[in-house]
Amino acid sequence: AIDRHVGTPVESKTALLWEGDNGATASYSFCEMARLSNQYANFLTSLGVAKGDRVFLFLPRIPVLYAAFLGILKTGAIAGSLFSAFQQQALVDRLENSSAKVLFTTKELSARVAGAKAKLPNLQHIIIVDSPEFLGAIAKQPDTFACVHTKPEDYSFMLYTSGTTGKPKGVVHVHNGILHEYATAKYVLDLRPDDIYWCTADPGWVTGIVYGILSPWMLGVTMLVHAGRFDPDVWYGLLEKYKVTVWYTAPTAIRMLMSKGDAPVKAHNLTALRHLCSVGEPLNPEAIRWGVKVFGLAFHDTWWQTETGAMMMVNFRGMDIKIGSMGVPFPGLEAAIVDDTGNPLPNKTEGNLAFRPGWPSMMAAIWQNEEKYTSYFVNNWPASNASRSDAGWYISGDHAWKDDDGYYWFIGRADDVIKTSGERVGPFEVESALVEHPAVTEAGVIGKPDELRGEIVKAFVVLKPGTKPTEELKAELSEYVKKHLAGHAYPREIEFIDKLPKTRSGKIMRRILKAKEMGLPIGDTSTLEEY
Ligand code: WT7
Repeated sequence: AIDRHVGTPVESKTALLWEGDNGATASYSFCEMARLSNQYANFLTSLGVAKGDRVFLFLPRIPVLYAAFLGILKTGAIAGSLFSAFQQQALVDRLENSSAKVLFTTKELSARVAGAKAKLPNLQHIIIVDSPEFLGAIAKQPDTFACVHTKPEDYSFMLYTSGTTGKPKGVVHVHNGILHEYATAKYVLDLRPDDIYWCTADPGWVTGIVYGILSPWMLGVTMLVHAGRFDPDVWYGLLEKYKVTVWYTAPTAIRMLMSKGDAPVKAHNLTALRHLCSVGEPLNPEAIRWGVKVFGLAFHDTWWQTETGAMMMVNFRGMDIKIGSMGVPFPGLEAAIVDDTGNPLPNKTEGNLAFRPGWPSMMAAIWQNEEKYTSYFVNNWPASNASRSDAGWYISGDHAWKDDDGYYWFIGRADDVIKTSGERVGPFEVESALVEHPAVTEAGVIGKPDELRGEIVKAFVVLKPGTKPTEELKAELSEYVKKHLAGHAYPREIEFIDKLPKTRSGKIMRRILKAKEMGLPIGDTSTLEEY
C-alpha cells in the first residue's frame, strides 16, 4: 500500500490529508508515510515484536494510527484495531482473547485500560503515543526497514465483531485479501489517480481499514481523514474545502444530513464530487433520491461484512441502480440464496444470503475458535480437498432474495445482531453489561427500528425485588453501559418488565421481545417456558 510507491512519481503525492477536530491540519506524502511507518516497524522490532504477534491500536483518527497500522504489517505482526468509544469491558474482552502484546493508545484513552492490567498478563507494552518518552523514542528510529516477508495466507489484521451469543469474536484476515480490496476499490469506488477520496468510517471497523487505509493507498489515491465527530456543517465544509471527488459513507450519516434539509448543501460548492457510495445498513430509497436531488449523484450501495473482508454485493458506477436493492455480486464471486442446509432456492424466495467460499478476502479464522469458524459454513468447507463447486457455502447471517435480473434485495439479519448507526452490536454484550449493575436481575436486548439510526438498542430489564422502576434509574442504566462497555452500544431505550420470555432451557427469546415491541404476532411459542 505504501512502499510500492516509493521511487515512483507517486512518492511525492499526498497520501493523507488530515483535519483534526479543532481545525488543526496536517498532510503526509506517500514517501513520508513510508518513512514514518518504517520508524514504527523499527520501534516495534526493538520491543521484540515478531511475525504473528498481536499489536492493537486504540486511538482516535490521528495520523499515528495510519503510520502505526502500516508499521505493524511491515513487521509481520497482526494489527488489531479497537474503536475509540470502547470502554474497559469491551477492551479487556478483546485484548485478553487475542493475547495482544502491545497496545498503542493516547494519554486520555489509556485511563480505560489502566485499571485492567492485571487481567492482561500478555500485554507487555502500553505505548502512549502523546507522551514525551514515546515521541522521543520514535523520532530516534531509523526510517528504513526491511519488510518482513509474508505469504498470502499469513494473517494481516483482525477485528472483533459481535454475534448473537457470547463475547465478541476475533475475525482474522490474511494478506491475500489485498487482491479483493484492490479490485473493489478500483472498480466499485472507481478510484483514479486524481481523486480526493473520503471514507468516513473509523479504522476501529473493517470499512475504515480496508477502504480507509489499505485499498486507496494501494491505488496511490489521496485520502482525507477527519478526526472529529459527525457534524453536518463540518462535513459539507470538508467536502468543499478538500474538493472531495469520491465519498464512501453510511446510511445513518446520509439520513442525518438529509434531516438538516437542502439549504446546507446549497450553501457549499460541492461540484468536485463525482461518485458516492454507501455501506453498513440498508440504504433507503429516499436517501438515494435525496442524493440525486442535492448532489446530482446517486449513492451506490455496497454490501459486505467484517467476515467477508471486502465488498461482495455492489452497484457499479456504470450500472443501472435498482433503488432499494443492494446490487449484484462482484465479478468472480458466486452468490446464492440458500436454505439452512445449503440448497439453492429459486428467485424471489427469501433465504440465506450465501457465497461460495474461497474469495481472496474471506476471513481465514475466528481467533482461537475453530468451532465458531466452521459454523459459518455449510457442507464441505473448509475441507482441504474440496474443489470450488462442491465447497459448500459461506452463510452470511443475512436474509435476502434475488430477482430475475440477478439483483439482490436485503431483508434483514437472520440472527439477533443489532445494527445501530451502521455499527454492529451484540445483544449479549449489552445484556451482560446491564446485569453487572446492582439493581438488575436480568436483561433482554433487541434492536428497535429507528428512522434515523436504522435501529436503536432497546433493553428490557428485570429489576431486583424492591427496586423502584424510576426514569432516573433508566438513565442511570444507560449511562452505566456507556461507561463500562462502549459509548455507541448503550440502550437508548429501557423498559422495565416483570419477567423475560425464555425457552425451557433458559435462553432469552429476543424475537418475542421484538415482536411485542413492534406489535407483531408472537409466532411459534412451543419452545417457550411460560409467558
Ligand atoms: C452487516 C455486517 C463491512 C461493512 C460494514 C459492516 C449489514 C452491511 C449492508 C447493506 C443492508 C447491510 C448486514 C451485514 N449490512 N451492508 N448495504 N445493506 N445491510 O460490517 O459491522 O460486519 O456488519 O451489516 O446485516 O451482515 P459489519
